[in-house]
Amino acid sequence: MARLRIQYENGDPERVIEFDPAKAPFHHDGRPGSILDVLLGHNIHLEHACGGNCACTTCHVIVKQGLKTLSEAEENEEDMLDKAPGLTPTSRLGCQAVFEDTNAEITVVIPRFTINQVSEAAEE
Ligand code: FES
Repeated sequence: MARLRIQYENGDPERVIEFDPAKAPFHHDGRPGSILDVLLGHNIHLEHACGGNCACTTCHVIVKQGLKTLSEAEENEEDMLDKAPGLTPTSRLGCQAVFEDTNAEITVVIPRFTINQVSEAAEE
């Protein structure tokens, strides 16, 4: 079983889910077995404005633990991530980072702001 711990920069309570990555896909958005796929399949919200197609940055997560056990970022993911607010060296797009290790222990932080929220705030 893999374990995914989700922490929120805005102080929401952390969540932990356990699942078998071999059972992917869990939902229909993002790459099968991706962080987005796992979260949505367990009723945990993560923004995904482009539907999990590596065409926005709203699914940006910061990987605090277990980065090496996720699939490697491809060039188009790196290009999109460059536009993410609050980019860190361990940032990934949730819809592209796939669980490859069935016993992975991963912790992600959901950033406080996504581009969507920033632009909404600017309009107020
Ligand atoms: S949902 Fe748009 S890039 Fe992941």
